[in-house]
Amino acid sequence: MRRRPSLLQIIYSRRTVRRFSKSKPLSEDVVKMLVEAGQRAPCYYQAYSVIWVRDEERIKSLAEICDSETTRSMILNASAVLLICVDFYRLRVLLNSLGHHHILSEDKFPVEAFYGVFETGLMVENICIAAEVLGLGSALLDCALFECERIALLFQLPHGVIPAAILCVGEKGENPPPRPRWPLEHVLHIDAYKPVQAEDVEAYLDLSEKILASEGYLRKYAEWNGSYTEYLMERTLLTKEIKKTYDAIASFLTRNGLKL
Ligand SMILES: Cc1cc2nc3c(=O)[nH]c(=O)nc-3n(C[C@H](O)[C@H](O)[C@H](O)COP(=O)(O)O)c2cc1C
Repeated sequence: MRRRPSLLQIIYSRRTVRRFSKSKPLSEDVVKMLVEAGQRAPCYYQAYSVIWVRDEERIKSLAEICDSETTRSMILNASAVLLICVDFYRLRVLLNSLGHHHILSEDKFPVEAFYGVFETGLMVENICIAAEVLGLGSALLDCALFECERIALLFQLPHGVIPAAILCVGEKGENPPPRPRWPLEHVLHIDAYKPVQAEDVEAYLDLSEKILASEGYLRKYAEWNGSYTEYLMERTLLTKEIKKTYDAIASFLTRNGLKL
């Protein structure tokens, strides 16, 4: 009999899956199980909500809003599309019901904003791991944040509910190799923080280049034929256009109380 993988093996072998074999939507029981697993993550305010986008028209509208080809096909082929939100609305309703002048009364709450984002991330990771345990793949998409204004409108989100990411869960249509990570010694500092050196950065970029090239990652998912370093530069260039986009996102976040 084959031994079942341990949870640790599952965590080590999780990869973002961007190609799903189109199959039946997940059952309500499975989606509930995944989100309940998410809820078991450590939390402070539980300032998060998950919208399971089940309606086909809604899924199509979401795919249209997220307009890159890869992203669109992930949304359309997933067996479950989950809109992950940071949610200060429900917390505010709860605190309002207590009748005191509380931390969200003034719409300025840097500490809570930080907690909200933090705990939403922990919740999502639990969902990703739970999906892996069930043999399903998952992919997080940042277009929820980049298109927050349009998505908030599409879902009529109340004040304080912030689209953070779309999580696509589905049958794995690919089995990708591990993607690069910084060597442990640059992430795990013992007793004191050890700043990274120029040669470490060079070695890390070299390693990433090799690992991603062996998978054909950039060609496959980003239609990019150049090097990883060039790609990274292109993606992180502080252009006028990106400044405008960031200002628009910051304005949405601020209007919804997320003032860091
Ligand atoms: C906040 C966040 C947003 C992400 N958005 C996208 C996305 O829009 N498209 C995508 O293909 N992957 C997205 N990812 C997945 C990362 O690209 C992926 O986790 C990373 O490349 C490492 O690969 P791995 O998960 O297979 O180890 C996102 C991940 C995070 C944490």
